[in-house]
Amino acid sequence: MRIRAVRFALAMSMGLANSSMGQGMGPQIPLAPPRLKGVASVEEALQQRRSVRSFAVAALDLQDVAQLLWAAQGVTHPEGHRTAPSAGALRPLVVYLVAGNVAGLAPGVYRYQPQEHALVLTQPADARGRLASAALGQASVRDAPAVLVIAAVYARTAQKYGARAERYVHIEVGHAAQNVYLQATARGLGTVLVGAFDDLKVREALGLPADHASLGLMPLGRRAPGAAAAAAAAAATTRPTSASP
Ligand SMILES: Cc1cc2nc3c(=O)[nH]c(=O)nc-3n(C[C@H](O)[C@H](O)[C@H](O)COP(=O)(O)O)c2cc1C
Repeated sequence: MRIRAVRFALAMSMGLANSSMGQGMGPQIPLAPPRLKGVASVEEALQQRRSVRSFAVAALDLQDVAQLLWAAQGVTHPEGHRTAPSAGALRPLVVYLVAGNVAGLAPGVYRYQPQEHALVLTQPADARGRLASAALGQASVRDAPAVLVIAAVYARTAQKYGARAERYVHIEVGHAAQNVYLQATARGLGTVLVGAFDDLKVREALGLPADHASLGLMPLGRRAPGAAAAAAAAAATTRPTSASP
């Protein structure tokens, strides 16, 4: 337990620079360690959080992307506990990054490795166009510099909780997504949880394994000038339908 704690602390301080091959096509790409102090309070982030659907064309910084991945599922405890709670600590969520315009990161689909705080390329080439088509053509998915995808392996939770696992997994996606919203807000970035998409087409666009169910897409970017007003207007007019919640 003590050894694990020391290894964890060391790894976090070093940003887990690790050149070993991970699951996927390429070597692990270590990410900068998360910043644990920000300029906005939790209360301010809660007050200012809004769904943002239009983004500046500027590239996203890899440091910002790393922070958002950590907010979604980063490891915060030597025993593997994460930024979001997980039923039975079974951790069914898998986070992917669809990078299109991220400084220092080639376009492609990457899998986030929470324990190592690293990315592994799983599919080269920009997948945003196909992902947007799978998401009923939503421009936020097409135009964002990157899209964070929250997927889940239901079986991890079902082995203990049976039929109740579906509920638990979906609750966990909500936790992770809200973490990303708040972290994005605190860093002057924008995102929106996109739930309207064709499951099979998303799987095909990203080349996901059969047991990885995609449950939420989160386009990420700097807020476009005027995005706050646009977000407020969209929130006022968006009504839940089967296609667009
Ligand atoms: C489960 C879920 C699915 C959603 N799906 C979409 C979507 O497909 N496209 C979209 O633009 N917004 C989507 N949203 C965002 C909502 O439209 C947004 O949260 C709502 O308009 C309220 O605005 P606010 O987030 O700024 O408070 C979704 C939100 C949730 C919680």
